[in-house]
Amino acid sequence: MKIMVINGPNINMLGIREPDIYGKSTFADLLSLIEKTAIAEGLEIEQFQSNHEGAIVDKIQECYGKVNGIVINPAAYTHTSVAILDALKSVGIPAVEVHISQVSDREAFRQISYPGMYCEKTIQGKGLDGYKEAILYLKEKYA
Ligand code: DQA
Repeated sequence: MKIMVINGPNINMLGIREPDIYGKSTFADLLSLIEKTAIAEGLEIEQFQSNHEGAIVDKIQECYGKVNGIVINPAAYTHTSVAILDALKSVGIPAVEVHISQVSDREAFRQISYPGMYCEKTIQGKGLDGYKEAILYLKEKYA
């Protein structure tokens, strides 16, 4: 089974960025947690991070016919991007949305998720462990 993990803008700043909200673990820690999960679970996992909406749309389109599951933290694009929602709908690949913070307890402008309208599950407020949970969910359901 091949899974694509996609992170949106500013996720590469983990550990530096608002540690009271996103924690002290770094982006490198996240990459290594996901790599270890891939090895332990016998999965092929590719990781992609971009600060650019169009690059994320391109990556989702590239997944068509090649990837069995997508884990996505669209970060700030969660709350604005119909383009990412449409890309997910276009490829039709099972997807899980992850948020490091508990978005539902935050500002009003964070209460809408466009990509979440496609994703079959949203995991939030579990820190980096949320990514592992999302990967295991996709493995259990689709491997
Ligand atoms: C986030 C939540 C978003 O509202 C925010 O814009 C992010 C990170 C999270 O992982 O908690 O950049 O997606």
